[in-house]
Amino acid sequence: MARPLADLRVKIFADGADRDGMLALYRNPLIAGFTTNPTLMRKAGIADYRTFAKEILGEITDRPISFEVFSDEFEEMERQAMEIASWGDKVYVKIPVSNTREEVSYPLVRRLSHVGVKVNVTALMLLEQVREVGAAVQGGASCCVSVFAGRIADTGRDPVPLMAAAVELLRPYPNAELIWASPRELLNIFQADAIGCHIITVTHDVLKKLSLVGKDLGKYSLETVKMFYEDARAAGFRL
Ligand code: E4P
Repeated sequence: MARPLADLRVKIFADGADRDGMLALYRNPLIAGFTTNPTLMRKAGIADYRTFAKEILGEITDRPISFEVFSDEFEEMERQAMEIASWGDKVYVKIPVSNTREEVSYPLVRRLSHVGVKVNVTALMLLEQVREVGAAVQGGASCCVSVFAGRIADTGRDPVPLMAAAVELLRPYPNAELIWASPRELLNIFQADAIGCHIITVTHDVLKKLSLVGKDLGKYSLETVKMFYEDARAAGFRL
C-alpha cells in the first residue's frame, strides 16, 4: 500500500513553465516549490523571458522557484545569474553543470553561492558531479543539486542506488538539497521519499496522477475494462 501523501518527507515541486498550470498548482498546498527550464519555457511558447518570470513572481511569492541561465559563456552566465537572483528572495538560479563545450561550472557555482545567490545546479547525472558541486557550495547559500534520475532511467539504469549515494554525498553540506529531477512516473515520488531525497520536481502531467495514490486496484481494473469497452463502442468497431 502506498504511503499517504501527507506522510511523505520529500518535498514535491512542480516542473513546468505553463503559466496557468503553475498558478493552478500554486493553489495546491502539497506543491512546495517550482522549477522551470529553457526547454519547458520554449514549449510553453514564452518569447520574453524576463516578462514571464516577473509575472509569475508577482503571483508565486512565497515558495522556491527556479529559473535557468541560458548563456554558454561563464561571464555572461554570471551576469544573468545576478539579474535572475535579484528578482526575489525565493528565486533559485539554475546553472547547468557544464557549458556545451564540457567546461565545468564549479568555479562559477562556488562564486555565486558565496556571494549569497541560491543556485540550483542542473543536468547532473554522475556522482562525481555531485561530489564537485557539494565542495563548491560548502559554506555558501542554500542551494539545490538537480540529478536527472529520469534521464538515467531512460538509459536502462536503475537511478535509485545512484540517487541514494547522492543523498549521502550531500550529507556534509546542510545548505544543499538534492532534487530528483526528470521523474517519469508517480512511483518516483515514493522512491525519492524512501531514500531521503529532499525534493522531487514533477511535471504537471505526472502531478495529475496524484489523485490515483492508494486507489483500490480492483476498482481501477474495472475502470480500465470499462474504458476499453466504451472506446471500442465509440469507435464503432465490428468483426
Ligand atoms: C528539472 O529541474 C528539470 O526541469 C526537469 O526535471 C527536466 O526533465 P526532463 O528530463 O523531462 O527534460
